[in-house]
Amino acid sequence: MINLEVKIPNKEQSYPIYIEQDKIENLKTKILQHIKGNKILVVISEKVNHLYGKVLGFSQDEIFVLKDGEKEKNFNNYKKILEKALKLGLTRKDAIIAIGGGVVGDITGFVAATYMRGIDYIQVPTTLLACVDSSVGGKTAIDTIFGKNLVGAFYQPKAVFINLNFLKTLDERQFKTGLGEVVKYIFIEKSCFCKEELNFSNYISENTEKILSRNLNTLEILIENCIKLKIAVVEQDEKELGLRKILNFGHTLGHAIEKITNYKKYTHGEAVVAGIRFAFSLAEKKGFIDKNYRFFAEDILKKFCFRPVTKLPNNKLLKAMKMDKKADSDKIVFILPIDYSVVKEFSFNEEEIFD
Ligand code: GLY
Repeated sequence: MINLEVKIPNKEQSYPIYIEQDKIENLKTKILQHIKGNKILVVISEKVNHLYGKVLGFSQDEIFVLKDGEKEKNFNNYKKILEKALKLGLTRKDAIIAIGGGVVGDITGFVAATYMRGIDYIQVPTTLLACVDSSVGGKTAIDTIFGKNLVGAFYQPKAVFINLNFLKTLDERQFKTGLGEVVKYIFIEKSCFCKEELNFSNYISENTEKILSRNLNTLEILIENCIKLKIAVVEQDEKELGLRKILNFGHTLGHAIEKITNYKKYTHGEAVVAGIRFAFSLAEKKGFIDKNYRFFAEDILKKFCFRPVTKLPNNKLLKAMKMDKKADSDKIVFILPIDYSVVKEFSFNEEEIFD
C-alpha cells in the first residue's frame, strides 16, 4: 500500500491518500477507522453500486445512489443528498463518504462543505480521472444552467482511498479519459516544483503498453506520480490564486469543446487532449517552443490513440472560452508550454488565438 499525505499549511490540516490493491471487501473497515461518529451517509454512483454494492457492505439505509453523468451534479441532487443526511440525523461528528467518479466526489464534497457548516468527508474515487485529479485537492462543486462548477467550495477531504481494483471494470473510453489527465502531468512536471524528481515522461514512455493493458502495479506507480505532482501544487496554492492554474493546462480549449458540444460528444479527457495539442501549436506559433518539443508531445499523445476531436467553429470556441470562469476580463487565459515540462500562464485577446 502506498500512503501519501497532503498538508495544507495555512489550515494546519493534513490528510492521507492511500493507494492500494487490497480486496474491495476490506475497504469499509478501513474507511470507518477514519470516522469519529457512528453515523455515515454513503453517496455512491449507480454503476459502482451495481457492480460493488454488495461487496462494499454498506447498509441500504445509509446509501444515496446517484445516477451517472455530469447532468446529475445539479441543485436538485445536492438538495436530496442534504435531506438524506438530515433524515439520517448526521451531526458534525459524523461523515459522508463519496464512492464513484468526479461527479459523485464533487457533489458529495460540496454537500459536506455546507452541511452544518462542514462535516468530514472521505473520497473513494473509482475512475482513473477521479484518482489522478478530482479526488485530491478539495475542489467541490455543482453545475448550474450557466456553466459547470459555478457553485462550490474549496473543502479538503479527511482521507482518500484509491483501490485499483475498481479500475478493472472501467469501460475503455472512461479509462482513456483518465489518461488524458495523466499525460497532462508530463508537460507540467517541472512547474509543479515537486521536491522529488519523478521523470514522469520517461515512466510513461517506458510503460505505455502496461498502462494501456491496465497492469495494476504500473497503474499504482502512475497514479502515485500524478498525485505527488498534484499534492505539490495544492500544498503551495490551495485556492488557485496562482500556481494551481497550471493544472488547467489543456483546459481552456478543452472546456470550450465540452461546452459547445453540450458535454455529450466528447469526454473530459478527450477534450483536454485536444486542448493540449492546441496549446502546443499556439506556443509554437508564438515562438515559446520550437517544433521539436511539439513533435515530442505529439509522439507521446499518439501512443495513447486518444479519440480525436473534429474541427469546431472558432467563433463558438472563442465565445465559450470568454465565458469560462477562469477568463480574465475580456482576455482569454491559456497555460502554455515554454520548455520541456515547463508551462506558464498567458492572456490573449481573441484575435491573437486563431489564425
Ligand atoms: N482539476 C484542477 C484542480 O484541481 O485544480
